[in-house]
Amino acid sequence: MTRRLLVTGGAGFIGSNFVRHWRDNYPHDYMVVLDALTYAGNCENLAYLEGEENFRFVRGDIKDAALVKRVLETHNIDVIAHFAAESHVDRSILGPRTFVETNVLGTFTLLEEFRYYWETQGKPVNYRFLHISTDEVYGSLTSDAPRFEETTPYAPNSPYAASKAGSDHLVRAYNHTYQLPTIITNCSNNYGPYQFPEKLIPLTCINILMGKSLPVYGDGKNVRDWLYVGDHCRALDIVINYGEPGETYNIGGNNEVENINLVRMICQLMDEFIPELPVKPAGQLITFVKDRPGHDRRYAVKTSKIRKQLGWTPTMTITQGLRLTVQWYLNNREWWEPLLSQEYQSYYQRNYKTDN
Ligand code: NAD
Ligand code: DAU
Repeated sequence: MTRRLLVTGGAGFIGSNFVRHWRDNYPHDYMVVLDALTYAGNCENLAYLEGEENFRFVRGDIKDAALVKRVLETHNIDVIAHFAAESHVDRSILGPRTFVETNVLGTFTLLEEFRYYWETQGKPVNYRFLHISTDEVYGSLTSDAPRFEETTPYAPNSPYAASKAGSDHLVRAYNHTYQLPTIITNCSNNYGPYQFPEKLIPLTCINILMGKSLPVYGDGKNVRDWLYVGDHCRALDIVINYGEPGETYNIGGNNEVENINLVRMICQLMDEFIPELPVKPAGQLITFVKDRPGHDRRYAVKTSKIRKQLGWTPTMTITQGLRLTVQWYLNNREWWEPLLSQEYQSYYQRNYKTDN
């Protein structure tokens, strides 16, 4: 069976990795990417698909109901993979409004238009709305607390997490009330190629190359559960094909690492890969800075549901994945250099102003 996918946010980090994964595995499927190309969206990520018969790129906003309706109808979409979001916690603290607008209102608009379209088509049973969400909706864990499960109560702490939680609730309600065939996935921290420079791993790689300080928030002992983006895309593929409508699946890497240890690992890799760095050993650049307000201490995800019910497990260890990722940033300078724009510098100044 060939599919006709609408991938929202497909020019961003995970979305563009997902498009690549889907194209490699299902070369005959039709894909439309709908992306507003905010600061985080980059059409270079999809340039290799230009002119392909089975691919269309539409620049536009998921809040634009008329556009969403037109895209669904024109391209006879049967699966929505919904990645589009404002995704960076620090930016949500500096300016939460766009997070509510895109993540809550944007998701609502997509749901409403997809519902109308699905009902008009006679409610086909094979249609899917996959909502890609985050483990941050569950809040913060203490060091010895059990990992997040699908039944863990929501307790979002940042404006970003709260806006994602709001969108999750809407998705769930559309399934419960209208039987819309929605599925939610809640995933831990992704890393890998094409991640925007503001996130911890690319920021650390790039700052080392530039001889800039490596800002570590607070005491550096916050823990994240790191998942290689390729493993995430494979999980989403399985969920689209075999997941149960109305269900939620948690996705995680079984790779819990303290931030300070992660930054040290990157420093060691850079020391190994590059004979001449502006500052060597790179670890000298580590600088403890003022903590992120409301900084969640620990995230960790229990993945037994997706493992038992759908047979997915992550394959990449943090050691392997980090090596690949650091190498990718070293080999793709022309990808990230243009992203260090005026907008990025001004964000950087605002976010790190007191310490850097
Ligand atoms: P990203 O910031 O790299 O990409 C977001 C994409 O959405 C960009 O291409 C941007 O242009 C687009 N976009 C933003 N607002 C839009 C709008 N109003 N209309 C259309 N397009 C718009 O994000 P990411 O890290 O790739 O995350 C993708 C999704 O996965 C998000 O929903 C995020 O919450 C979720 N998620 C991310 C992680 C992670 O570690 N990065 C982990 C779990 C879940
Ligand atoms: O858990 C999933 C979430 O992971 C996703 O939903 C988000 O979209 C994604 O951005 C990510 O959120 P985090 O806030 O965990 O990722 P970030 O890379 O911003 O930070 C990782 C950790 O490193 C976090 O504890 C904060 C810390 N940090 C981050 C930056 C940017 C620093 O210590 N210094 C920094 O400069």
